[in-house]
Amino acid sequence: MTATELELNPYAWDFHNDPYPTYKRLREEAPAYHNDRLGFWAISRHEDVEAAFRDWKMYSNKDGVALEALPQSVTKMMSILGMDPPLHNDIRRIVVHVFTAKQMDAMEEGIRQMAVKYVRSLVDKSKAGEPIDFIEDFAGRLPMDVISDMIGVPKEDRDKVREWANTMMDRVDGSEEIPPHAMQASINLLMYFTEMVKCRREKGIGDDLAAKFMRAEVEGKKLSDEDVISFLFLMSIAGNETTTKLLANALYWGKKFPEQLEKIKQNPALTGQWVEETLRFDNSSQILYRTLMEDVVLHEKQLKKGDRIALLVGSANRDETVFEHADEYDIERDCSPTLSFGKGVHFCLGARLARLEGRVCLEEFMKAVTDYHYEEDGLIRIHNSNVRGFLNMPIKLEV
Ligand code: HEM
Repeated sequence: MTATELELNPYAWDFHNDPYPTYKRLREEAPAYHNDRLGFWAISRHEDVEAAFRDWKMYSNKDGVALEALPQSVTKMMSILGMDPPLHNDIRRIVVHVFTAKQMDAMEEGIRQMAVKYVRSLVDKSKAGEPIDFIEDFAGRLPMDVISDMIGVPKEDRDKVREWANTMMDRVDGSEEIPPHAMQASINLLMYFTEMVKCRREKGIGDDLAAKFMRAEVEGKKLSDEDVISFLFLMSIAGNETTTKLLANALYWGKKFPEQLEKIKQNPALTGQWVEETLRFDNSSQILYRTLMEDVVLHEKQLKKGDRIALLVGSANRDETVFEHADEYDIERDCSPTLSFGKGVHFCLGARLARLEGRVCLEEFMKAVTDYHYEEDGLIRIHNSNVRGFLNMPIKLEV
């Protein structure tokens, strides 16, 4: 990119490797940016991204949150994430009912036991001189185990469900299309939940979250089986990749800023803030798209009804007007203005759970090791236009 060219290409692998210089230029030079080739607008300043999240009437989720406006049949698969109020509120009111703070907090002990089990196995492998991959052996497993426990995916099915949820995110360098194998994985996942709900109906519905969704009722309204299936599908993708990437991003940036990691070693009570600063500094959910519902002028640009708009969360979290020294990783800063979990009606339903999983996993990991190391060359990044983080993280432990 030369000094005069400014391109935001959400498919470019260079951009995935380090999006932050592009974000900075966008905030400074083109706060309402249009990509003529791909046909979308992008907003990058914190104030604008937050306002768009809050204004669901103007910035609609009806066509999904990916760059491509998807047909209704596909957005339906995204459940509440592909809906606007009032339908969104009707369904969210039902699911929120089984997602309360009290229920999430009650999960801490179970999550800790899972984390201890995985960390112990990492340490055993390390002592036996076997290679360890932080993602393959731990961070890529626990979030899906937690969701699987919640929604009732049996142990023997978890590997394949996780595999499909991961494969759905695969993209090919230089291509703007969703590759056939990724498409097939999403079909498999959808079919799996369809069969699961059908079985529940036939055999009696049990007592896990899927069963609670099937039974839940607010003001006389129940979820249809189709609603339940698409919500289970959304849960399995929304709460899996993002949390996995958060954990590995925390380890990655901890090593890049060793004085910050040292603070955590000295004072483990800071682990929650380690999670918060990682979410701000390098969020696993980088870009969410909307469809504009009316013409609007923004930063002297004319945006038209029907245009696709990228909300650059990763950029908003680095906005210097909100976060002093925004490009510094500082676990003791006030992270409260971050937009990592969105804002407004679509605010992440799993935010409390993600924070809990992040803190507990990192606490148990740091309790078990005196230090860890990774080689930059050994890391493989995910190439996806929404999610940011690593696919693999081979590490060595000092225990
Ligand atoms: C680090 C982890 C996570 C991040 C960064 C994250 C981020 C987000 C963001 C930015 C949104 C708003 C999307 C929008 O406005 O279009 C969202 C929505 C959502 N998230 Fe998360 N999420 C995480 C973990 C989870 C977990 C663990 C779950 C569930 C188990 C979950 C379930 C959902 C659901 C159901 C929605 C849709 C809410 C709605 O449309 O009303 N997320 N998430």
